[in-house]
Amino acid sequence: MSVTGDSEGVPFLDIERQEAPISGELMEAVARVVEARSYVLGATVAEFETAMAERVGAGHAVGVASGSDALYLALRLLDLEPGDEVITTPFTFFATAGAIENSGGRPVFADIDPRTFNLDPAAVRGRRSPSAPGRSSRSTCSGRWPRWSR
Ligand SMILES: Cc1ncc(COP(=O)(O)O)c(C=O)c1O
Repeated sequence: MSVTGDSEGVPFLDIERQEAPISGELMEAVARVVEARSYVLGATVAEFETAMAERVGAGHAVGVASGSDALYLALRLLDLEPGDEVITTPFTFFATAGAIENSGGRPVFADIDPRTFNLDPAAVRGRRSPSAPGRSSRSTCSGRWPRWSR
């Protein structure tokens, strides 16, 4: 089966459908980068970072090359130590567990809430290991955050 979905049923991945409404805008943006010959960082990335920071109300935003890089860099900021658990969902792309491993953590999977498809807070609580003697718990979560107030 093709990932673009030329067989029966719902396609596994349908990027064309997602991009169709903005394809003209996308191609113009790609053309601007090519014309500027600015393929690493440069004005376009700086504009993106400024716009993203404003949109999410953050002091700064950092553009990276891929979703995998974003996960890895965020996890590196936690200074994980060998054996530290990072609770995540199996309902994700394999890059999630890969980024946890590559940043020194150990993926521990907790199930999702089938109503929201986010991590189920009760499942997360059930997957936390007790702290080692003399050491605070180093469990953390990676993935889409549930509403913890529920
Ligand atoms: C949930 C999730 N995380 C991470 C990634 C990795 O992103 P990238 O392919 O840009 O490295 C993907 C890619 O599909 C994803 O679906």
